[in-house]
Amino acid sequence: MRKKPLPTVVLTHPIHPEVIRDELAPHALVVIARSREALHRALPKADGLITLLTDQVTDDWLKKAPKLKVIGNDAVGVNNIDLAACRLRGIRVVNTPEVLTHATAELALALLLAAARRIPEGEALCRSGRFRGWAPDLLLGLELRGRHAVLVGKGRIGQETGRLFRAIGLTTEWITRGDSESTIHRKLGRAQVLSMHVPLTPETHHWLNSKRLSRLPAEAIVINTSRGKVIDESALIRALQRKKIFAAGLDVFEHEPRIPASLRKIPNGVLLPHLGSATRETRRAMAQLVVSGVLGILNGKRPPNEVPFRVIRRKK
Ligand code: GLV
Repeated sequence: MRKKPLPTVVLTHPIHPEVIRDELAPHALVVIARSREALHRALPKADGLITLLTDQVTDDWLKKAPKLKVIGNDAVGVNNIDLAACRLRGIRVVNTPEVLTHATAELALALLLAAARRIPEGEALCRSGRFRGWAPDLLLGLELRGRHAVLVGKGRIGQETGRLFRAIGLTTEWITRGDSESTIHRKLGRAQVLSMHVPLTPETHHWLNSKRLSRLPAEAIVINTSRGKVIDESALIRALQRKKIFAAGLDVFEHEPRIPASLRKIPNGVLLPHLGSATRETRRAMAQLVVSGVLGILNGKRPPNEVPFRVIRRKK
C-alpha cells in the first residue's frame, strides 16, 4: 500500500532542536526558514507553520501559503497573528496556554521583589566597587507583606500570580473585563501593586494610560509581564521620573526590542528582556505543545490548545 506523503511543516526558528528531532521530524518534512528569502521559498509548500511571537504573521504571509492549514505560535499570546485573515482563509491556530502559567507568574513575583527591594540598584552598587559598607539608610525599599495587589486580568496567569503574591503576604483582587470605569478607578486607588495580565487586543491597547496611572497610590509598584503595548510607556516613564509611583518591573516594552533611553536611565525601573516563560522546563513544554497541536490539526484532530476565533473576536 502507498504511504500518505508527510506534511511539510515550516518553522521560522528551530524552537527546540530535541523536540523537533524527536516529536516533529518523524511525522513531517521539517523546513527551518530563518531568513525572509528562505521563508518566501518555503511558504508555498507549507501545510503547517510554526512561528515566534516576534513574527508578524500578516495576510501577505498567508497569501504565499495556499496549502497552509495550521499556524502554531510558540507563545500563549497571539497578537502577532492576523486571526481574522486566518479565519477567512480557513487556517487554524494553536498556541501554548497553561504550560507557561507558573513560569510567568514566578517572573512577575521576581520583578515585584526586585522592584520593591531595589535589587538592581544594590547589585549595580556592588559591581561598581563603590559599596562602602552597611548603612542604616542604604537603598531602603518597601516591605510587601500586608500590601494590596490589584491584578488586571483573571486568566490563568493572573490567578497564578495572585496565588504567589498571597504566599508572601500580599492581599489580592482583580480587575476583570466586566468592571465599569468607576469600579476600575476605585480598585486602582488601592493598588499598592498593579500587575498586568491581559492579552494585547484593540480593547487592552494602552489600558494603563496617564489617567489611570494618576489614580495609583504614591508608593505603587507597576509590574508588566504581558505585552508592552497594554501600558502607555511614555506615561509610565513620566510617572517614574516624577516619582508619582515607587517603581516598575517590566518584562515587556511598547516597541520591543527597543527600550527608550529615558526608561533605561530610570533607577526605579527593573527591566528584563521578555523572559516570562524562559525556563528550560517551560520552553520544552511549549515546543511540545505547539508541535502536538500542529500535528493534531494536520491529522484531522481538535487539539485542546486551538485558539478559538470567536473569543478573540469578541468586542465589548
Ligand atoms: C510570551 O510572551 C507568550 O505570549 O508566550
